[in-house]
Amino acid sequence: MTTTVETPARPPVADSVKVLLPYEPRSASAARRLVRTALRGWELEDLVEAGELIVSELAGNAAKTGCRRKMTVTVERITGRCVRISVRDGSRVLPCLIDAGPAVESGRGMALVHHLTGGHWGATPESYGKTVHADLRTRAPAPA
Ligand SMILES: Nc1ncnc2c1ncn2[C@@H]1O[C@H](COP(=O)(O)OP(=O)(O)OP(=O)(O)O)[C@@H](O)[C@H]1O
Ligand SMILES: [Mg+2]
Repeated sequence: MTTTVETPARPPVADSVKVLLPYEPRSASAARRLVRTALRGWELEDLVEAGELIVSELAGNAAKTGCRRKMTVTVERITGRCVRISVRDGSRVLPCLIDAGPAVESGRGMALVHHLTGGHWGATPESYGKTVHADLRTRAPAPA
């Protein structure tokens, strides 16, 4: 008699991962790593590039607030078809879309997030800060 032991190809990845990071520009790189690792764990390689750009912008904006405690970066599969990237910081000022002209060097980050998510982003005020989130849709499953 033969016994087959099935082992998963890779360990299961939680539906939600998060990290607390200091309010420093270099935190964007740790945030990108978190997003990359989570998306690869969920086998969503095609979202890695957009996810890394988005979290860089959100973490970069949080770093500019100069808050003292740590920002929280979260990546979650909120539905089978949607991944949410969120950054919580301690400032109650909300992000806005700036209509930057071609010659302007800054004010492009949220416009990029808007573009990459098809407008599926938002900000939720909280008692001691706010959370900015951006949603990426996964590709439709191939027909069976
Ligand atoms: N986490 C945040 N906390 C407070 N204000 C924010 C935050 N994120 C964005 N904002 C506000 O929204 C504006 C637009 O953000 P955006 O990222 O588009 O531009 P920027 O950060 O000024 O420039 P860039 O991203 O091109 O370096 C910011 O100038 C800022 O006023
Ligand atoms: Mg910015």
